[in-house]
Amino acid sequence: MSDIMTTHQHFVTTSLAGLQRDTPPMRLFEKAKRYGIWNPSDIDFRQDAADWQRLDATEREVLLHLTSLFQAGEEAVTADILPLIMTVAAEGRLEEEMYLTTFLFEEAKHTDFFRRFLDEVAGARMDLTHFHTPSYSAIVYSALPAAMQALLTDRSPAAQIRASVTYNMIVEGVLAETGYHAYLTALERNGLMPGQCQGIRLLKQDESRHIAYGIYLISRLLAEDPALWEVAEATMNELLPVALGVVADTFGRYEVMPFGLEESEFADYALSQFQKRLERLERARGATLEEIYAATDLAIEQNDV
Ligand SMILES: [Fe+2]
Ligand SMILES: [Fe+2]
Repeated sequence: MSDIMTTHQHFVTTSLAGLQRDTPPMRLFEKAKRYGIWNPSDIDFRQDAADWQRLDATEREVLLHLTSLFQAGEEAVTADILPLIMTVAAEGRLEEEMYLTTFLFEEAKHTDFFRRFLDEVAGARMDLTHFHTPSYSAIVYSALPAAMQALLTDRSPAAQIRASVTYNMIVEGVLAETGYHAYLTALERNGLMPGQCQGIRLLKQDESRHIAYGIYLISRLLAEDPALWEVAEATMNELLPVALGVVADTFGRYEVMPFGLEESEFADYALSQFQKRLERLERARGATLEEIYAATDLAIEQNDV
């Protein structure tokens, strides 16, 4: 690659520019320093372990199933974010790189959190891969690493859009956020697993910052070149039905879903969140950078990404 730097020509923080603190990435960095430092090792799983003992076989199976999707998903996003961080760093976007250091740290903590649940609550020293259906594999095993690793050889805006739509809009926005929302609702409704609920509430806050960053990144790229909308739309059209297929596969496996879990709860939530973000991205086409900043700041402030 021709743009690899072997020397530094200057440093942002010792130049006149300094850090641009009133930009969305720095606002997200501030939020991450405040809210993203929770420790999965501090979660008290004692009541969760007692609750697990009282569950029947199907209830345990469903919790293992969902946790295996969350667990592999968190591991995948931990493994696959690095090429995006390298891309942003190579473009000299220090504020975005600083925010993304918290992003990677948080994904690692999410991976840590679910493995604690599997080890200490479910006692699940077993292979859980059989829960990963073809729809799930198509996204988490294939599309995600392909889109992210493409950045190692192609850092073009189109490749960045494809990576961020796959990672932030589909994997985080549709699969993770929807899964956590429905899973948390089911546990809370049944008064189960207070440790797991506490961790997922914290994790959802982290994820909302991640998605906010993704929408900001895609918006920034679309503002610069509205023609990239075609790439964003093609990626979404390709992956959204597959992501919704993961929900269908999960429910299709059980005759009666325990915990009062309803398929429509997952699918409706996923679609409404997706639609809301899609509208924001559509508005970013041809917007000015200032308008993108304002829209992102408003979403961050209102915790509405
Ligand atoms: Fe995560
Ligand atoms: Fe995330």
